[in-house]
Amino acid sequence: MPKLTVKDLNPRGKRVLVRVDYNVPMEERNGQMLINDATRIEATLPTLRLLIGQGARIILTAHLGRPKGQREPSMSLQPVAVKLGELLSHPVAFVDDCIGEKVEQAVANLQDGQILLLENVRYYNEEEANDPAFAEKLARLADIYVNDAFGAAHRAHASTEGVARIIAKRGGQCAAGLLMELELKFLGEELQSPSKPFVVILGGAKVSDKINVIDRLLEKADTILIGGAMAYTFKLAQGFKIGKSLVEPDRVDIANAALEKAKKRGVQFVLPTDNVVAQPVKTDKLNKKGKPVIELHNPRINSEPNIPDNEEGVDIGPATAKTYSEILLSAKTILWNGPMGIFEDPRFAEGTFSVAKAVVDATQKNGAVSIIGGGDSVKALNKAGLGDKVTFMSTGGGASLEFLEGKVLPGVAALSEK
Ligand code: 3PG
Repeated sequence: MPKLTVKDLNPRGKRVLVRVDYNVPMEERNGQMLINDATRIEATLPTLRLLIGQGARIILTAHLGRPKGQREPSMSLQPVAVKLGELLSHPVAFVDDCIGEKVEQAVANLQDGQILLLENVRYYNEEEANDPAFAEKLARLADIYVNDAFGAAHRAHASTEGVARIIAKRGGQCAAGLLMELELKFLGEELQSPSKPFVVILGGAKVSDKINVIDRLLEKADTILIGGAMAYTFKLAQGFKIGKSLVEPDRVDIANAALEKAKKRGVQFVLPTDNVVAQPVKTDKLNKKGKPVIELHNPRINSEPNIPDNEEGVDIGPATAKTYSEILLSAKTILWNGPMGIFEDPRFAEGTFSVAKAVVDATQKNGAVSIIGGGDSVKALNKAGLGDKVTFMSTGGGASLEFLEGKVLPGVAALSEK
């Protein structure tokens, strides 16, 4: 059943609690927290503009980081209020708590069309525990609930799930925001019966993170292209040597099962035929976690099926990039999740960027629908300056994966039916 959306509401003069995902990357510079990437804030602007135009009294709630119930100052949403105000060209008030008297007073002072952002909801442990009394305190602030936080919809927390249940129980409407609606359309409906050929590109570090997605997509895809460190577990499963590459030896069985299922279903399952490899060298420097920093020396292209013992795979090679690009250019629907290599290092970014370029070409020149499943692939596409040239980029990380696996997202399930 389709969910109620923010377009179905009549919120003039009503207090609307909007859950947004403002879990944005931040960095400290000269004692100030700066936002590195405001994509998630920008993505909520259509919903907020609609609600402002309709004269709603808007209360925004969000989390930032994982402060585990502590008032961690570096995880305050205050800088987000400033950024949002700039992006909207509309004042955004901020209150340094998310429940209690002070917050209730700030909400009572709101006029039609005004916005108030509440402090990080994860400053309370009760948020992640989905504590009913805490959810009740949030619910007290609002007449209507809107969830535009697709990226957090896989969490059954008080601000994503509990509060919606309470508001719905007392007869209030609980609607999807415009961003939530788009995410569900592209990652859900569009992939139900995709135009063929449907090509999926999967990368990233671990087979274990993606195996449920692979399993599900094997039902729909014509071709699956594999990259990232995940490819080495598949190579190991096929009996090749993978040197010092990142690998999950205990996942060889599930890798083999996926290869077997692909064969049975006639899905083309493509692994890299060449790689960029480098020698990992331990240094005396320590990283943030206190572990020795590993430097990657002497990068080269390895066109052999086996990787030598002293080297590790760090990117797909040029022949693989060419094959993948050709396959992508014949696609009518593309889903991409996970980079092809360590694209953060310019020496190992070529494979990921070639794939990004092919996805854009297929979209722009051939009219393919291209859907980027969030997380690192979105970062890579933005780094290549191609973020606005695909059909849709998800703002979800874990949420996109769980949704693509076919799981019901608690934050979506709690919304009212139309
Ligand atoms: C994300 O960044 O993926 C979401 O905001 C969810 O954050 P979490 O993994 O800390 O729940």
